[in-house]
Amino acid sequence: MIPWEFLAEARVPGGDLLKLSKRGDEFSIRTEGYELMNSRAHGSEEVLAQEGLRRIQAPEDAKILIGGLGMGYTLRAALNAAAETARITVAELVPELVAWNREYYGHLAQDPLKDTRVTVFVEDVAEAIEKGPWDAILLDVDNGPDGLTRSSNTNLYTKAGILRAKNNLTQGGVLGVWSAHDDPAFTLRLKRCNMKVETVRIKARIKRGSRHTLWFAKA
Ligand SMILES: C[S@@+](CC[C@H](N)C(=O)[O-])C[C@H]1O[C@@H](n2cnc3c(N)ncnc32)[C@H](O)[C@@H]1O
Repeated sequence: MIPWEFLAEARVPGGDLLKLSKRGDEFSIRTEGYELMNSRAHGSEEVLAQEGLRRIQAPEDAKILIGGLGMGYTLRAALNAAAETARITVAELVPELVAWNREYYGHLAQDPLKDTRVTVFVEDVAEAIEKGPWDAILLDVDNGPDGLTRSSNTNLYTKAGILRAKNNLTQGGVLGVWSAHDDPAFTLRLKRCNMKVETVRIKARIKRGSRHTLWFAKA
């Protein structure tokens, strides 16, 4: 068995310490207590972009916001589904995550940051949301709507947070949210904000039997 090699660490502003490790061609980003990302499991992260863009029928000049970068799989899937003239903005809170992508593992998702359609904002996705209108806002910044990476992330999933996202969507635009678990209370909150909600459950490859949840909500 190849041992894990520690590569780097970074602090989420106001949140956890992230540790990047490598074992052969496998990369892992861990935070205190759980694995935030593993390069072997990214199917549902890609479906977030594929299904999100399918729901807006990805217009030629689509403006798409992705929060955050992680290992870049959601970004790559969005690039593959979007037109050559689309603009994709990634909001990533942790500057080191952008640097790690360029330095260590960009190849995992075919170097998405090199695509000229991509703009990176090193900032809280909550701030980027306000720079809409967006045709799609795709959120994968936490383990779920409980804001695990950073306590202030919970504000993204409150009624006020949902309404802020809704107000920054174009007509027919979609809010997509990734989660490691189902959260019926969040589904209810989306509905109470008068959004039409679809919940998609996806088998997670890494833990047999477990499922990831995606929400797609339209005004
Ligand atoms: C689970 S990873 C995203 C994985 C990504 N979907 C992929 O395909 O690789 C979560 C990312 O969100 C970032 N993040 C956490 N809170 C954020 C926030 N409020 N704004 C922007 N990025 C945030 C983390 O630093 C991390 O890069």
